[in-house]
Amino acid sequence: MSITILGIETSCDETGIAVVRDGELLADVTATSMDEYARYGGIIPEIASRAHLQTMVPTLDAALEKAGVELSEIDAIAVTAGPGLIGSLTVGVSAAKALALALDKPLYGINHIIGHLCVDELVDGPFPEHFIGLVVSGGHSSILRVGNIATDVEELGGTLDDAAGEAFDKVGRLLGLPYPGGPHIDRLSKEGDRDAIRFPRGLTAGKDKVRHQYDFSFSGLKTAVARYVEGLEDRGEEVPTADVAAGFSEAINDVLTMKALNACETFGYDTLVVGGGFSANSRLRELAAERAAERGITVRIPPIRYCTDNGAMVASLGYELVRNGIEPSGLGITVDTGMDL
Ligand code: KG4
Ligand code: ZN
Repeated sequence: MSITILGIETSCDETGIAVVRDGELLADVTATSMDEYARYGGIIPEIASRAHLQTMVPTLDAALEKAGVELSEIDAIAVTAGPGLIGSLTVGVSAAKALALALDKPLYGINHIIGHLCVDELVDGPFPEHFIGLVVSGGHSSILRVGNIATDVEELGGTLDDAAGEAFDKVGRLLGLPYPGGPHIDRLSKEGDRDAIRFPRGLTAGKDKVRHQYDFSFSGLKTAVARYVEGLEDRGEEVPTADVAAGFSEAINDVLTMKALNACETFGYDTLVVGGGFSANSRLRELAAERAAERGITVRIPPIRYCTDNGAMVASLGYELVRNGIEPSGLGITVDTGMDL
């Protein structure tokens, strides 16, 4: 029997709507309000919420038209229920409830973090029996052990302070780059020498290495970069921004790839799946591929358009929930800004 899922994502600034039929992506349309935030240096939740309200119906229409699917052909609706911004989540969940009620179809609340991994199935095919997931974004940096993605996901560790993307955005501000700094640092770091300045790798030495085997801490690194830059400025010396970007980027990507691949080896899994907005980072993709090949591990990272927030990730996980016979969440669902796995 054929299953058609409508996926709705509104956890942050992207309104993403996608249609997945039997594990195949028919359409994925995204609208974003990111352009509005450069002058504020960060996302303004109220602006994001109103933008979702404005773009919801046009994005839905565009996705259905692109997929060549009528609303009446949708079998279930999947929507991000958390984690994320409360106003943004509420617009998506309210729209999804209205659709589920009007169409009399089941409604599934989706965990955004697991969605970031699940989107990879749409491009690289069905997941193996088990794998390690690394989800890195503006809000999260987590290592997950995954069996069946619909029923068996366990967080092995995560960031104790800043997420990888958040650290990039903060250092971007320090280097005078526009918001969000992540993609700018990525570009700048390609012009620098990644070995010129060695910045600290948090939680990789002594007792911390054992106790926080799968955890990250990037705030010390951020402070080290700030001290380095301020020291030069105080002495009236020029800041080698490309070398700072490259050295900083190397420190984060070194720890992310090392800990994720260590998890694969400890659990005896031969696959690492990477997802989330930060997995667009070119050095992360390069280092993960290089180090995984050395250890005989397969790395799956979706193309960049599926790394940042989108509807496909939600529809893909919705499809897995339906396929695995999971009970729908129902019309009573609410949003959970800090949703656990
Ligand atoms: O997953 P996402 O779109 O939203 C969240 O759920 O957070 O991730 C956005 C984050 C931002 O911090 C952004 O700076 C970062 O991903 N990002 C990057 C790159 N592209 C996006 N960070 C480093 N390098 C990139 N190429
Ligand atoms: Zn995300």
